[in-house]
Amino acid sequence: MLAAAGVLVVSSVIGAGVAYLGDIVYGSGSEEAMNAAIWGALGAFAAALVGITALPFVRRLLISRADVRLVEAASPVHPLLKRLMTEAPGTYTHSLATASLAESAAEAIGADPLLARVGAYYHDVGKLKRPCYFFENLAQGVNPHDSQKPSLSALIITAHVSDGMELAEEYDLPAPVRDIIREHHGTSLIRYFYHKATTEEPQVYEADFRYHGGRPTTREAALVMLADSAEAAVRALPSPTSEEVAQVVRAVVEDKVDDHQLELSGLTEADTARISEIFSRMLVGMLHARCEYPRLLSTKEEGHADQRREPSRA
Ligand SMILES: [Fe+2]
Ligand SMILES: [Fe+2]
Repeated sequence: MLAAAGVLVVSSVIGAGVAYLGDIVYGSGSEEAMNAAIWGALGAFAAALVGITALPFVRRLLISRADVRLVEAASPVHPLLKRLMTEAPGTYTHSLATASLAESAAEAIGADPLLARVGAYYHDVGKLKRPCYFFENLAQGVNPHDSQKPSLSALIITAHVSDGMELAEEYDLPAPVRDIIREHHGTSLIRYFYHKATTEEPQVYEADFRYHGGRPTTREAALVMLADSAEAAVRALPSPTSEEVAQVVRAVVEDKVDDHQLELSGLTEADTARISEIFSRMLVGMLHARCEYPRLLSTKEEGHADQRREPSRA
């Protein structure tokens, strides 16, 4: 409001000054010049007023339809987000934290912060099909993975990607958000159940314990992948120091780089370094407001909330 008033005053003064000078230059008398200045001021005031009034409408016209759909999907009252909040509250909380990380990192590296945020909100919606099989939603002491084969656990866990894509279609989420849902695990290995299977099952194929969504093809999808894994890994630490948080975040990022998960995303080495810094700083801040979660395996052993569990909890 103050800025708008300032623009009106400055425009009027400039308009009056220009009109006055114009009349002086063309040899008019002082009375005519003063009249011209008054009209100049009024003209400039009116022009500025029209400009200021029209600006929000012009801005709305310039925002692309794609951005409007993203803004709509970002609403906390979106029916799918409301379902996530009520039916899988652990996943909902994890998704909000992931969104904050992905959005901030996107701003820092010049990617699309809105897409990163909205993609993160929805990345795990597929868990709505079987929320109780995912660590963040487990009831205390109840772990359905304890009583089933590791290969079946892996099947259920990897299915949250295809289940998420189905829900995204059902709720007509924007295409770039669907891509993030599909790619947020890339082709990563569900290490915990893979290693468990090698000790419990007669024949084990590594491919059966990998996600099949395809590696991230955009920086935003890669940011969601990294934010997702970093948030889960840090949450698994009982009471980490700032140095431990930074160490775990670096390990998560290095793990994804070493596993070639980021090669199609367009992220540079400088980007990943910047992302690690931002995630570490933000996660240290988030820890102050977070309850302690049950102890999980170390980050190097496992890389994600979906797959990092103690054998007793899974
Ligand atoms: Fe996931
Ligand atoms: Fe996740």
